[in-house]
Amino acid sequence: MRKTILITGGAGFIGSHVVRLFVKKYPDYNIINLDKLTYAGNLENLKDIENADNYFFEKGDINDPVFVSGFFQKHLFDGVIHLAAESHVDRSILAPMDFINTNIIGTVNLLNSSREIWAGNMQEKRFYHISTDEVFGSLGKDGSFTETTPYDPRSPYSASKASSDHLVRAYFHTYNLPIVISNCSNNYGPYQFPEKLIPLSINNILNQKQIPVYGKGENIRDWLYVEDHAKAIDLIFHQGENGETYNVGGNNEWKNIDLIQKLCRIMDKKLNRTPGASEKLITFVKDRAGHDLRYAIDSSKIRKELKWVPLVDFEKGLKLTAEWYLQNKEWLNNVISGEYEKYYDDQYLKR
Ligand code: NAD
Ligand code: TYD
Repeated sequence: MRKTILITGGAGFIGSHVVRLFVKKYPDYNIINLDKLTYAGNLENLKDIENADNYFFEKGDINDPVFVSGFFQKHLFDGVIHLAAESHVDRSILAPMDFINTNIIGTVNLLNSSREIWAGNMQEKRFYHISTDEVFGSLGKDGSFTETTPYDPRSPYSASKASSDHLVRAYFHTYNLPIVISNCSNNYGPYQFPEKLIPLSINNILNQKQIPVYGKGENIRDWLYVEDHAKAIDLIFHQGENGETYNVGGNNEWKNIDLIQKLCRIMDKKLNRTPGASEKLITFVKDRAGHDLRYAIDSSKIRKELKWVPLVDFEKGLKLTAEWYLQNKEWLNNVISGEYEKYYDDQYLKR
């Protein structure tokens, strides 16, 4: 029997890498990508696999319970990998309601429909919820988040993701829904929308625009190459334990300012610019409200239990990423037209 797997948010950054991996690696699965195609969703991200026999796309909104229920009744999915979300902290500060609706209500709609179609037969089924390390809050200089660190979200984005994580766990305990959750650190790589730090900086360097660094650039994030995350998702989906959570991270902490300086050096070389030219674009701007100081992930559980190891080191990953954006200027120009300009003005020019 062919398995039918639903991937939500498959036209987004991480989702497109997960769809690509599953379509190529599992020709005996039907992979159905459900995506609303918000500003962050783009079918160009999947051009290379769009004609594969085992790939299907449906445009739809997870916030619409009637649509979601009908969609599940039609396809009777064997598994769900849920990535659809509003994902950008700065936008959640400008407009929180989209985050409450999609990240919380949308997730509950998917949980309810999974319960409906799997009632009486939960064997071999799986609901996999993709989450973030931001639910754990902000660290001081030391320590790292483990799977048992208490939740302490501090932005509308992280609070909405924390809420959805709690609901997913509640459906496990209350209804025995076979769920699994992972909380991952900051991803980077090809196809990331240029509102996030690394692609925004690449785009601004390319266009000789200022690189906005919040506060003093002292905040620290742990960075993971997106394909390593997609591989972790594959492992957890197939081998994770029901009801369990797995932390995923790169063991790769960088202060924002150090990261941007490193990226500037890579870009200067690739663009044949004078060494130091891009660094001159760095501009310190007003800090993000409630800016979490530091995230760090202890990923020993997934490394030990599922034998996951990230394969792409940061130097290599950043170079691959810079190269990809330089080779895909058309993609970049397409996504930064229209809505992006308005967002950029609201976020950066009115600060
Ligand atoms: P993204 O913003 O690039 O993509 C989100 C996708 O969801 C888009 O294709 C969008 O069209 C779709 N979507 C949004 N609202 C929808 C709705 N109502 N119905 C259907 N589709 C909808 O996000 P991303 O960075 O790829 O993140 C994917 C998931 O991974 C999110 O759940 C996010 O919280 C989580 N995550 C992201 C990171 C990161 O660094 N980017 C790290 C850890 C976890
Ligand atoms: P971001 O890519 O938005 O991811 P997150 O907020 O989910 O960690 O931001 C990464 C870090 O970079 C974060 O500390 C905020 C900072 N940042 C800037 O300094 N300037 C920017 O223009 C952006 C988008 C982020």
